[in-house]
Amino acid sequence: MSDRVEAPFPDDFIWGAATASYQIEGAVAVDGRGPSIWDIFSHTPGKTVNGDTGDVACDHYHRWREDIGIMRELGLQAYRFSIAWPRVIPNGRGPINPAGLDFYDRLVDELLANDIQPFATLYHWDLPQALEDEGGWPHRQTADRFAEYVDAVTRRLGDRVTHWITLNEPWVAAMLGYYMGIHAPGRTSLADGLAAAHTLLLGHGQAMETITANVPAAEVGITLNLSSVYPGTDKSQDVEAARLADGTLNRWFLDPLFKGSYPEDVVRAVGDAMPEVRDGDLNRIAQPVNFLGVNYYSPQYVVRDPNGPLGVGMVDREGEHTAMGWLVQPEGLRDLLVRLNEDYGPALYVTENGAAYDDPPPTNGRVPDPRRAAYIHDHLLACDEAIRNGVPLRGYFCWSLLDNFEWAEGYSKRFGITFVDYPTEERTIKESGRWYRRVIDANGVVPV
Ligand code: FCB
Repeated sequence: MSDRVEAPFPDDFIWGAATASYQIEGAVAVDGRGPSIWDIFSHTPGKTVNGDTGDVACDHYHRWREDIGIMRELGLQAYRFSIAWPRVIPNGRGPINPAGLDFYDRLVDELLANDIQPFATLYHWDLPQALEDEGGWPHRQTADRFAEYVDAVTRRLGDRVTHWITLNEPWVAAMLGYYMGIHAPGRTSLADGLAAAHTLLLGHGQAMETITANVPAAEVGITLNLSSVYPGTDKSQDVEAARLADGTLNRWFLDPLFKGSYPEDVVRAVGDAMPEVRDGDLNRIAQPVNFLGVNYYSPQYVVRDPNGPLGVGMVDREGEHTAMGWLVQPEGLRDLLVRLNEDYGPALYVTENGAAYDDPPPTNGRVPDPRRAAYIHDHLLACDEAIRNGVPLRGYFCWSLLDNFEWAEGYSKRFGITFVDYPTEERTIKESGRWYRRVIDANGVVPV
């Protein structure tokens, strides 16, 4: 049976799925891995739902072959995964741990043997705890340590991995980790958050230099969590608040990366909390990338709120919400992609998009999850609209290949297109995954 195609995608479009090391691997003390900030944070009482930790997670460290089998069943053309820094340099500085690199070496070989393109993310939030003890991301030298780690990884894998993503969502790593305290390492200072964001961007710039030196043919980019930010009302104070919120979330990263400057309006708003920016930093940060990775889940509606951070508050809207409480609005993705193309212009990948819902456990090998399939379906139609508006969108990675450790939410939120039964680690492809396979086969959106 061949499907009716609602929206054909470009011939060379890449279809994938994404994961991250700490969320799936487990095996936290195996083969010389050192502790990361997420090990320490998740083991601190009260930090995650049910006290969940990534100690075992999906046990992907031992089940990676089976997981590549699932990717094959899904027909994936690409797989975005992250490399755990504390496996490669357990103490954050000093000797490389060859056993840590061996794991990714085997993974990459097996992906390639199955015709699945590896997209490797170098930092998805698992900073070695030893570096946090030296000051963490607010401390400028952490960028140098990052570049050393990137050097070790790209020397080993650069002959086979052509697509590299330096950082995943520096806004989240810096702001949730160092300002709001809800992610590791759990600090609560705006100045620390902004300093962390600057070091992360600097680390990205240094990593760009290292990767292009080690792997001249590499395609290198960075992944940001971006959103369309709309005013909650048309009052001028809410329009202004939305402009500032767009500045802190989107332009704070996009402007340095693509224009070599921090946005003036936000610099004024943060005042004394502004981090030290040295001569040459912005040139380093603004080196041309081959692509920008976009993680999009939900839009933001913003109003002025004197009690909110920088006078900004969020409001909700009527409509479908996911189990995270996030408003479902595919137009937000279309608007974002069009805006990125107009204001900044790089080639784009959607490196994450997807939804958590409370799925039933498998019965007779099936997990019906129609709302997740509908979510992805509608967001793919938004991608199609953007492409028809001239946006150079090269690929789409759904989040996530597997149910996994959802950070502060622990295992309570399931984003997978594959169900994981944690006590047995048994995997079952959900109906959304079976539908996604049909999309990939058709190279276009097909009805759910
Ligand atoms: C993103 C993260 C990813 C996952 C999704 C739901 O912010 O990059 O690891 O947790 O959200």
